[in-house]
Amino acid sequence: MDFREIARRKLPAAIFHYLDGGADDEWTYHRNTLAFDDYELLPAQLSDVSNINLKSTLFGEEIDWPVMIAPTGASKLFHAAGEPAVIRAAEKFGMIYSLSTLGTITIEDVGAACKAPKMYQLYVFKDRGLTRDLIDRCRAAGFRALCLTVDTPVAGNRERDHVYGFATGKFRLRSVPSMLQHPGWLYRVLIGKDLEMVNLAASVRPDQFADMSLLEYFNSQLDRSLTWQDVEWLAEQWDGPLVIKGVQTVADCRHAANSGATAVMLSNHGGRQLDGAPAPVDCIADVADALHDRLEIICDGGVRRGTHVVKALAMGANACSIGRGYLYPLAAGGQAGVERGLTLLRDEVERTLALLGCDSVDKLGPSFIQRSLPGH
Ligand code: GLV
Repeated sequence: MDFREIARRKLPAAIFHYLDGGADDEWTYHRNTLAFDDYELLPAQLSDVSNINLKSTLFGEEIDWPVMIAPTGASKLFHAAGEPAVIRAAEKFGMIYSLSTLGTITIEDVGAACKAPKMYQLYVFKDRGLTRDLIDRCRAAGFRALCLTVDTPVAGNRERDHVYGFATGKFRLRSVPSMLQHPGWLYRVLIGKDLEMVNLAASVRPDQFADMSLLEYFNSQLDRSLTWQDVEWLAEQWDGPLVIKGVQTVADCRHAANSGATAVMLSNHGGRQLDGAPAPVDCIADVADALHDRLEIICDGGVRRGTHVVKALAMGANACSIGRGYLYPLAAGGQAGVERGLTLLRDEVERTLALLGCDSVDKLGPSFIQRSLPGH
């Protein structure tokens, strides 16, 4: 959370609050992290923890520790080093990297630059040809997994974006004074940097969005009529791991498995969509009980500490993903910031396992965790 404070100082208000904020009253946003406090870790003492194994597998790939980089939009807004800095850090730390459709680097550039296993986060657009084109590009660029985000039939109500002038990605007049107070950011990030949604730009002909901005075109392409049949369609287009991001109930996870998905990201979009949705950590146990043999389970949301990762895994998740968890460090210090943040988190996971008396992440399970009693 210290990185968050540095990010707050370094970024113009509109940008910081776009990164930091959630929807409506931000109940879900806060709950995502607070919910971890409802669980207690139960150590098994004197268990020989001289060697701790953090390695695991996800999407059929070996990973050095069970945390992955979640897809997030527009990293170059937060630091000019942007996605390439995160990619290099992910490679060093043996993590899966994800590229967002709203990323500020192309699928092809990630394909060329990133040696880590890669996941592409997709929206199914009204124009299925556009969707197919993005999928073909992912295949050609060597992406391992495809991820469909399903919690955005419409944009969430991010009130901080209205207050600080970042609504719908356009900078409002009221965001200007705070940008001018951050000349370093202005120089490095805004001047001369292309913050366009490059992935969409590469797949759309200019005449398709003639009188709109690319972002307006993007919003017009979000398809509110999507159903699980569209996931079946997607599964037919993609023969690798297919991840559904933004589900929280057993019923939806069962739909995901029945529709051909191989993994779910239990997620409420970092509290940025449906306020009132439950914290991902609270959804793990039921989903794992019902579907652990059919789906890999990723806990996406609220992870700030190594103990959070260990709790999620003990509840039955295969891995956690972090979004703000690497964006605050990116904003604070570029690639060095991300590496420092990942070092701290990974060390915390390792230390927690030692203190818990568990020598391997794959051995974490229900015997290591209990729900705290209410009022305690
Ligand atoms: C994009 O997915 C966002 O949450 O801003």
